[in-house]
Amino acid sequence: MIDAAVGRALARPSGNWYVLATSAELGSRRPLGRTVGGIELVVWRDEREIAHAGPGACPHLGAPLCRSRVVQGHLMCHWHGMRLDAMGRPGWHPFPTYDDGVLVWVRLDELGGEPPLPEPVLAPRPPSLTSLVSVLTMIGRCEPADIVANRFDPWHGSWLHSYFFANLQVLSTPSVTADTGETDRFLVEVSFRVAGPLGVPAVAEFSSPEPRTVLMRIVEGAATGSVVETHATPIGTGRDGTARTAVIEASMAYSEQPGFSVARAAAPVLRPLIRAAAARLWRDDLDYAERRYRLRGR
Ligand code: FES
Ligand SMILES: [Fe+2]
Repeated sequence: MIDAAVGRALARPSGNWYVLATSAELGSRRPLGRTVGGIELVVWRDEREIAHAGPGACPHLGAPLCRSRVVQGHLMCHWHGMRLDAMGRPGWHPFPTYDDGVLVWVRLDELGGEPPLPEPVLAPRPPSLTSLVSVLTMIGRCEPADIVANRFDPWHGSWLHSYFFANLQVLSTPSVTADTGETDRFLVEVSFRVAGPLGVPAVAEFSSPEPRTVLMRIVEGAATGSVVETHATPIGTGRDGTARTAVIEASMAYSEQPGFSVARAAAPVLRPLIRAAAARLWRDDLDYAERRYRLRGR
């Protein structure tokens, strides 16, 4: 059932978009360096704060542009001062880039090999002004499909993460054999442990809007409308010859309950706590995904 769900997710169009970074970590003075599918990239913001991405090597003699500076919205190569901007120049062509306010995406048509789409495939999010957003990035020795497979196994929650989830029950699973016309999703009832026996009950739905994203949406309970977007971006191959994948997970907590504005005011304190909880979950989940990848390679 999990394999079938992963197969359907992988068959969805992505338009060749890959999550690169979080919007918050990309400032206007320093570029960021990233590798996606073995392609070295540099990401920066211009004077209007618009994000751009281009090849990571300077077209002159190959300087790593992620170590250069951004001057008046241009990349200024730190080896011999070549100015590079979103217009590109011979031998150096920027890639389409999209900043959705939480994440920065790049479109790599040669890597993806699908018909390109003008924008990434995004699922609806809770209103950004009234939600608490937190992003976690981790690197695993596995492929994006292993991350997706882990997210499409709702059963492991109460076993592998018993410190966090209780009373987990899978309410419905997508049909493996026939297209029933129903939404392609897993529906799970679960309590999120708060302290000891205290738990917050919720019904969560797991689905995939595109091949490298799994979306968890709370559809019942106090946090209805909250979303966790898990994105898996292939980095390339490590020195040991195994695959590397970045897990970039954006949690958007939202509630219409009155106390939630207090929680938002406490965001600077709450955010690291949420991140710590997600980091613990993901240490276990990366073990799972990496193990799956290793067994496949044997
Ligand atoms: S390597 Fe960048 S200007 Fe020479
Ligand atoms: Fe998990």
